[in-house]
Amino acid sequence: MAAATAMDAWLRTRADVRARRGLLRRDSGLRPGTIDLASNDYLGLAGDPRLAEAAAEAASKHGTGARASRVVCGTTGAHRDLESNLCLLTGQEAALTFSSGYTANLGAVAALGGPGTLMIYDAHVHASLLDGIRLSRSPSVSVGHKDLAGIRAALAGRTEPRAVVVLESIYSVLGDAADLAAAAALCSEFDALLMVDEAHGIGVAGAGRGAVHAAGLAGAAHVAVTATLSKALGAQGGAVLGSALLREHLANTARTFIFDTALAPGSAAAAAEAARIVLAEPALAERLHANAASLARRCGIPAAAGAVQSIPVGSAELAATLAAELADAGVSVGCFRPPSVPDGVSRLRLTARADLGGAELEWAAGLVADAVAAATSAAGADAAAIPGALIGGAA
Ligand SMILES: Cc1ncc(COP(=O)(O)O)c(C=O)c1O
Repeated sequence: MAAATAMDAWLRTRADVRARRGLLRRDSGLRPGTIDLASNDYLGLAGDPRLAEAAAEAASKHGTGARASRVVCGTTGAHRDLESNLCLLTGQEAALTFSSGYTANLGAVAALGGPGTLMIYDAHVHASLLDGIRLSRSPSVSVGHKDLAGIRAALAGRTEPRAVVVLESIYSVLGDAADLAAAAALCSEFDALLMVDEAHGIGVAGAGRGAVHAAGLAGAAHVAVTATLSKALGAQGGAVLGSALLREHLANTARTFIFDTALAPGSAAAAAEAARIVLAEPALAERLHANAASLARRCGIPAAAGAVQSIPVGSAELAATLAAELADAGVSVGCFRPPSVPDGVSRLRLTARADLGGAELEWAAGLVADAVAAATSAAGADAAAIPGALIGGAA
């Protein structure tokens, strides 16, 4: 056997530390037979036969892979249809699709940054946005969660000619909503661009058309949107939506657009069909909101803004134990631990779906509520004493 390398020794130490802290992650599928309160398939579209048919048709017409980057020869009719349907859904002038929501955020933020652009971002924005800010080499300021006064102060004190304020419309872990109207007003006052990640807003907020549309900001020159096609739209891929000028800039400068093979045609066609369905069937988003409200009520937490409900449970170990016990009992829930959340506020993340039946939702939510109550009292943890405890989506 080959001698252990310095890298192996380091990998082993890191694995031991993760195990000791209850931070081991394993790739896993949905446990068969469990009720899904863990995935991001908010409208149940990932299993919709209309999306599967659209994907199969596009794969036989254009191929299973796009064969090249969009700027070489990877663009197909499926990509064009997708961009046009996304514009119709969100009310935006132009759309540019990427191979994932992650690469859309990374590419767009980096392409808008540089030494002359100050990046101001909410402390809770997604890793892909943070990575984009780092990659941009822009000066940057992190402000507290939903801290409009902090954004104002950063904008007022800026010395750079341009600024971008980076937020999520509905936050991925806490499930709460940004005040987009107020943030957009600040950006307008200080001549900044508001960049809103609608990963958890498209298909959910504003009858499915997104929170930016609901706030009357679609098409505003100082607002841009990023989105993923892999959550409520039940497919795969990402997009940036905004002006034709913005699209042109990103298509020429976003490295994750230029140096990445185009989204697979099947995924593009499935997402295009999903965008069409969401626009044509607003009842889907209504059912999601009704189910989200029932889930929150049964779990004793305030209803969140969208599909994501968040229950702080304290330690990472307790969150992992609870999630494993719930899976054994028949309910899959998300378990968020550091580095996804700060130390001491690990959470169960529950997601509602439009296609959950009333009885199964009631049963699953009851199980979660009882398990959380038992675990927190057994740990001697008064829920109110846990930082941010049970403030859920309204935090
Ligand atoms: C807020 C947010 N932005 C971006 C992404 C990345 O999207 P994707 O999974 O399509 O890469 C995610 C989720 O994974 C997310 O929650």
